[in-house]
Amino acid sequence: MRTKIVAGNWKMNNDSLATSALLQELKRMNQISKARMIVAPAYTQLAQAVNLLKDSSIEVAAQNMNAEVSGAFTGEVSASMIKGVGVSIVIIGHSERRSLYSETDKVLTEKVALALHENMEVIFCFGEELSHRKSGQHFEVVSHQLKTALFDLDASLWKKIILAYEPVWAIGTGETASPKQAQEIHAHIRSLIHQKFGESVSSSLSILYGGSVKPNNAKEIFSQPDVDGGLIGGASLNANEFMAIVNAI
Ligand code: 13P
Repeated sequence: MRTKIVAGNWKMNNDSLATSALLQELKRMNQISKARMIVAPAYTQLAQAVNLLKDSSIEVAAQNMNAEVSGAFTGEVSASMIKGVGVSIVIIGHSERRSLYSETDKVLTEKVALALHENMEVIFCFGEELSHRKSGQHFEVVSHQLKTALFDLDASLWKKIILAYEPVWAIGTGETASPKQAQEIHAHIRSLIHQKFGESVSSSLSILYGGSVKPNNAKEIFSQPDVDGGLIGGASLNANEFMAIVNAI
């Protein structure tokens, strides 16, 4: 059985007060859930979140990290700094990082390698833009993103990888991939991993879907055989909505 995961990417939202309120509420509501539940606050709230959640099964992830170990990179945060506050999960390759901060496949490859070297777990995001989907290039784009960043890894490192397929056209737009579209591309992704790394890696790999997942569509998306949970943006900022999505697993 693959691990089911629901992760909330808070993006640049929630100051200390809001973080505390949201996490207290999630802790109160979190019964025994069937999914691993992860929240990804901003860097400035990571230590606070770790502290607040230390007696809870809710895990904490960072939204990004720098590709370098240390040095003259004003404003940046390293993998070891993130680990130093007790966080060992990191999101890498989010489409907002790729498009707004020009993160290339090369940089993302370096980030993944460094995170794994630091023994962190990586939630690797990728997905096509609307133009690719319209021209039928989405399978190709997704294959290229995966191959460049992850296919040189040793098979043994895949236990530290979680994939998050997030079609750019569905992020924050209210438009989701249909359950059929999600299943079709998740199955494609799993078969690529199978061809390259074999059955034991591909069958145990969690592949999350992200892009306008809400309480009213989560169940149908999560019920697809190759969808192992979700990476949630907007709806993860509201405790009731996020828990409803977690409970849709
Ligand atoms: P939304 O759920 O707001 O569409 O965001 C998805 C996302 O980008 C999660 O990383």
